[in-house]
Amino acid sequence: MADIRILAIESSCDETAAAVVSNGRDVLSNIIYSQIDLHTIYGGVVPEIASRKHIEKINPVIEAALREAGCTLSDVDAIAVTYGPGLVGPLLVGVAEAKAIAFAKDKPLIGVHHIEGHICANFIEHKELKPPFMTLVVSGGHTHLVKVVDYGRYEVIGRTRDDAAGEAFDKVARAIGLGYPGGPKIDAAAKNGNPDAIVFPKGKVGDSEYDFSFSGLKSAVLNFLNHAEMKGEEVNRDDLAASFQKAVVDVLTEHAVAAIRQYNVADFALAGGVASNSALRASIAGACAAEGVNFYCPSPVYCTDNAAMIGVAAYYEYIKGNFADYALNAIPNLAL
Ligand code: KG4
Ligand code: ZN
Repeated sequence: MADIRILAIESSCDETAAAVVSNGRDVLSNIIYSQIDLHTIYGGVVPEIASRKHIEKINPVIEAALREAGCTLSDVDAIAVTYGPGLVGPLLVGVAEAKAIAFAKDKPLIGVHHIEGHICANFIEHKELKPPFMTLVVSGGHTHLVKVVDYGRYEVIGRTRDDAAGEAFDKVARAIGLGYPGGPKIDAAAKNGNPDAIVFPKGKVGDSEYDFSFSGLKSAVLNFLNHAEMKGEEVNRDDLAASFQKAVVDVLTEHAVAAIRQYNVADFALAGGVASNSALRASIAGACAAEGVNFYCPSPVYCTDNAAMIGVAAYYEYIKGNFADYALNAIPNLAL
């Protein structure tokens, strides 16, 4: 059978990305234009600025992805795009672009769920990984514990009730003056700090074994900072970063272990931007080893937002013939 090549587009937040993926597993190109520098001075992503930058960058990014893959639009078998969840303006840029290319070149169009993309990022470097398996998607917008029942079939077991894990990292980093994006900065600061210096509450939800809550933890960090300031005490930022990170990592690991035991899976995969966190990787890898479960995690370039993961997810829709029509629209709160 001839190779199936999919051109994938991702623009749900602050990365303008395009990739060409062959047969759902081989990445022929993966171009990411990160807007992080543009948003840093505002301390977070400004949707209107992101939308405008996506419009400016999307064509050059797609051209670069095709060039690197050694193909033209005529050579690809389908056009895939993230249509939600995410910021509506940024999503619309990708969706409009994908529809225009699909129409002009008469190619099938595939709409992809952003979280499904993050999960599928694990298939790129782990050719042996196949459903069913358990996965934890931790990003700036999402914290989902999901059982991957089959390709394209998901059972959400737990999710955050308020802030996402990455959002908590970003807010705490801002509060202690580390800047945006906070995750990598807290990760680095925590390496020099004592994780047992301050005991913060774990983000648990009373009535659910698997749901998460991180807003209480964030408030506890802010209260700690306020009290220290009122008493004129110096705060050790490295200790605070390490202690906060430990509280997040511990609760994520505990829920992951409970899910592994209850659902009796042989494989566990981490995904999303926060999956780059060194303490989280080490903690979940250790827990999986103790449970006798295989641990998978993408390289950092496939943890953060990228289009290769969208091309992987799209392949499994392509082989099912699950195509979108030109009514495809951006859905900011699309459910998994
Ligand atoms: O998946 P992603 O690129 O975008 C979303 O879909 O949200 O995730 C971005 C999030 C940000 O909150 C960022 O602070 C966090 O991932 N992040 C990290 C690390 N690297 C990125 N959080 C903790 N530790 C890291 N090393
Ligand atoms: Zn993402």
